[in-house]
Amino acid sequence: MSIRIAPSLLSCRFAELGSEVRAVDEAGAEWIHVDVMDGHFVPNITIGPLITDAVRGVTERTLDVHLMIDNPDRYIGDFARAGADVITVHAEAAVHLHRTLGLIRGLGKRAGVALNPATPLAAVDEVLDEIDLLLVMSVNPGFGGQAFIPRAVDRVARARAMVEARRPGQVEVEVDGGVSVKTAPALARAGATVLVAGSAVFGHSAGPGAGVEAIRASIAGISWPDGEG
Ligand code: DX5
Ligand code: ZN
Repeated sequence: MSIRIAPSLLSCRFAELGSEVRAVDEAGAEWIHVDVMDGHFVPNITIGPLITDAVRGVTERTLDVHLMIDNPDRYIGDFARAGADVITVHAEAAVHLHRTLGLIRGLGKRAGVALNPATPLAAVDEVLDEIDLLLVMSVNPGFGGQAFIPRAVDRVARARAMVEARRPGQVEVEVDGGVSVKTAPALARAGATVLVAGSAVFGHSAGPGAGVEAIRASIAGISWPDGEG
């Protein structure tokens, strides 16, 4: 699997949404990460299907929708119709996780499960056959620009080992929170194949395109499963 960069729009200039998306698209970001927050599961409120649909209108890249919301089943259809390619729900928020993943896949979308830093990886053990992606949170969800939790590197390595044991080569391991040129290399070596980055991309002094290129350069020569090469 190649390692993909997924800029998180949470840190973009929302008044310039279209040009911000185009900038990271043109810089080669393979995925666009959309952070949806409801003010219940997490303290913050962000964006919903309408803005997701607007983003869909300006890029062909994979739209990676991260639902940080309670009762995700209620909105999965709306995000699918808005053009999401990957829909990820939190294990902590999806009470009937197996059903929720079936709902996502039933709509022809790739299904992901996200785990907060305090949630054991074993929380996904019984649904490993139903997922296309496992999202390891490296901050507590809710805000951009938070400090990276160092233990996440080992957690990504354990997540990768867990999915490989059951579904070799079939599950993306994504990491989200505090990803930067400093943290990306260790995460890539640990087996992350999707790197979400918000402030490191959109807060880059030379603009978001340069932010994508800087992260890409930081992981040059690293691939999974071969490790550094
Ligand atoms: C956190 C969000 C992240 C966030 C990452 O709740 O899920 O996607 O935007 O932002 P940075 O990269 O700034 O930590
Ligand atoms: Zn996210």
